[in-house]
Amino acid sequence: MRLQRIVGEDRAIRTNIYLRNALLGTAWSSRLEFPPGFQFGAATSSYQIEGGWDADGKGPSIWDRLFHSAANSGYFNQTGDVAADSYHQWRQDVKAAADMGLDFYRFSISWPRILPTGRTNVVSPAGVRYYSQLIDVLLAAGIKPVVTLYHFELPVTIQDLGGWTNPLIVDLFGEYARLVYSLYADRVDTWITINEGIVICDLTYNFGQFAPQIKEPTFAPFLCNKHVMLAHAKAYRIYDEEFRAKCGGKVSIANNLLWVEPVTPDDLELAELGRQHSIGRFSHPIFSKEGGWPPTTEKLMRAVSRREGYSQSRLPAFTDEEKKFVQGTADFFSLNHYTTSMIRPARAGEAPGTWFINGSAELNAVLEHPPGSTYGALDIMPIYPPGFRRLLNWVRQQYGDVEVFVSENGLATSGTNLEDHIRVDYLTRYMEQVLLAMEDGVRVTGYTVWSLIDNFEWFDGYNTKFGLYEVDFEDPARSRRPRLSAHHYACVIKHRRLKYPESCVQERRNGRR
Ligand code: GAL
Repeated sequence: MRLQRIVGEDRAIRTNIYLRNALLGTAWSSRLEFPPGFQFGAATSSYQIEGGWDADGKGPSIWDRLFHSAANSGYFNQTGDVAADSYHQWRQDVKAAADMGLDFYRFSISWPRILPTGRTNVVSPAGVRYYSQLIDVLLAAGIKPVVTLYHFELPVTIQDLGGWTNPLIVDLFGEYARLVYSLYADRVDTWITINEGIVICDLTYNFGQFAPQIKEPTFAPFLCNKHVMLAHAKAYRIYDEEFRAKCGGKVSIANNLLWVEPVTPDDLELAELGRQHSIGRFSHPIFSKEGGWPPTTEKLMRAVSRREGYSQSRLPAFTDEEKKFVQGTADFFSLNHYTTSMIRPARAGEAPGTWFINGSAELNAVLEHPPGSTYGALDIMPIYPPGFRRLLNWVRQQYGDVEVFVSENGLATSGTNLEDHIRVDYLTRYMEQVLLAMEDGVRVTGYTVWSLIDNFEWFDGYNTKFGLYEVDFEDPARSRRPRLSAHHYACVIKHRRLKYPESCVQERRNGRR
């Protein structure tokens, strides 16, 4: 929904809030407020905000190498070398989080910033100090750090051994995780091991654009998938055995959950197969009662591989021991959600669409956007709020009464735009679906906006903005300014409901709170 500016800014803001409340009024009930204890936060990731790419002895990651390569240097002529300069400007991030009254801030640790060689033979004192200070200052501001160990930043040294397709990564990731816990687990109690296996494995290897830019869609996504599961489990078990008794925290993995709907009632079964292939492959091994791959995916992959002439499934089997090792290794279900797709079988001669649910090549299916979709700045992410409630209910139906934590949700805009009404609407409508799912009985305990601040949106660069706070990338100090959505989110948090007194945003804008 786009709202007209009427006369003067204030009037436009009031009108926006009025319309938003009226819009919500249709499905809204006064019972729909966030319960006590519900946690609100915002997220970032190290490569996307930190900059300081080689500061104080940091080692190179696969993203540094990719954007420094001749082949990619022309890509918008942009890199994450400086980004939002959070390596130096991190106090501004804490201030933004505190200004909005966030309960927590989810950030990630750069593996090669802590371990420049990727291995524990060299530990960078500057890297260790950087995150240590950030954690201390967050805690002093009353904000809980939620820490992701891996958000796509693999040290090049490990990539050169095959990265996520080499089973060695399981132990290497375990070593790194142990070191990070030993540094910070006394102060951090919520851990996310790996962000979005489907991006690391499927998106990366199916298209060969994301680092390390290797296109090998046949085996690599599935080898990587298995190793992500095992590496996560390794990190979970290390926490469980060596740190939990002392520190008492929680550990999970953040999966990206695209909601998949059928185009016609005939496509119901295909839609379910689509969900299992994209969500289940990264969740079933951990959260299901049986463990291992989702049975329908396993069957599909066996049949496809046989048809292609392979003697074994391209989806590598788990041994019984591995199955047990992975099963149950999460203390809550962490999910990133942005959008919904519709699925139908590919027609004769039509190439299967392979954007996000990258298994659609195996599924021989095509993805479409929900009819009548609206968009932010990214046309791969149609806005479709009802999908979120259905997705959350599906998670419960699949994996039982698990605690659910929304670890990312947000919308991209572009250009300079402090008056981001479209983001306000997106967040409001998606949060409404969270509340409705909670009424349905889904145990959601937290919600995270992607992102706290504008950042380097991978191959979409700096013009694609996800921030509640705008970052001025022309300013050497990378100054941050709150958007309308930051004020809105702060008011939701303060009143613990989506409908709040109109004066709340006004007072924040006038610097009165
Ligand atoms: C997620 C990812 C983030 C961010 C976001 C917006 O998939 O975890 O790094 O880029 O998408 O596209």
